[in-house]
Amino acid sequence: MSERRASLTALSVAASRAYHQLYDGTPKILDDPIAPKLVDDALVTRLSGAARPWATQLRLHVVVRSRYAEDRLALAVERGVRQCVILGAGYDTFAYRQPPWARELAIFEVDHPASQREKRSRLDAAGVALPGNVRFAPIDFERTSLAEGLRSGGLDETRPAFFSWLGVMMYLEPDAVDAVFSYVASRPPSSEIAFSFARPPRLFDVGQGPVAAAAFAAGEPWKTRFTPRRLAAKLRALGFAQVELLGVREANERYKPLRSGLPPLLQVSVGSAVVG
Ligand SMILES: C[S@@+](CC[C@H](N)C(=O)[O-])C[C@H]1O[C@@H](n2cnc3c(N)ncnc32)[C@H](O)[C@@H]1O
Repeated sequence: MSERRASLTALSVAASRAYHQLYDGTPKILDDPIAPKLVDDALVTRLSGAARPWATQLRLHVVVRSRYAEDRLALAVERGVRQCVILGAGYDTFAYRQPPWARELAIFEVDHPASQREKRSRLDAAGVALPGNVRFAPIDFERTSLAEGLRSGGLDETRPAFFSWLGVMMYLEPDAVDAVFSYVASRPPSSEIAFSFARPPRLFDVGQGPVAAAAFAAGEPWKTRFTPRRLAAKLRALGFAQVELLGVREANERYKPLRSGLPPLLQVSVGSAVVG
């Protein structure tokens, strides 16, 4: 990703969440009234509407991964975790619509400096207030160590933390991905990371698949992909005590009551790993 330009793929997935909020039925998989304030409505319909046949599956995946991570975070808070780090936050809006159970959290939004600047200016333009428990840490994962960046951002490394890492891993070189997983694995017990990942293209994909092709065209090529089996093995080898990769059948069962007319997911690539 360029030094100077804010992420376009972040805008594209925010458009999916905005579309879900504005045009999909109720109840919703993800109730995100802030998303439409951050993305222009014309972009929402162009990026997420019928013009792109795979847009519905992308939208489902994007809202499911956020819902999954927020559900995991709620469980982490129940077991006493009080720090939440959103890695590659893009236009994630959790902090600006946080439920009462999140008020005791310190929330750290980590992103590439250019993307973070653009988000902050869009929040400002939309009149979205910054809650007192949110802190911003501008970090380029390929250049600065997460430990260094988070320490200077105020993370208490002696206490457990929940990490959300959605739609980011595929944009990093494998070494940078390993560095993030290793850092989280070395956090105090009860820490957790919830993530989404990219799979190798399927046989019937044209080239690398339409979503990866769109990211490539936006100047943000995918660099790291995993099969679920290889990713689970890596996480176990790093010493995570509990590793979950959500299966497509389970995801469809879990979110069926919230799908409101949306088709089933054809594939899901999200999971979580807890430090023992
Ligand atoms: C597709 S967006 C996902 C945003 C958000 N997590 C979501 O789900 O809406 C990818 C994000 O990764 C961030 N990113 C990509 N490469 C990065 C790097 N080297 N350092 C920091 N952030 C990076 C981008 O700035 C962008 O916000």
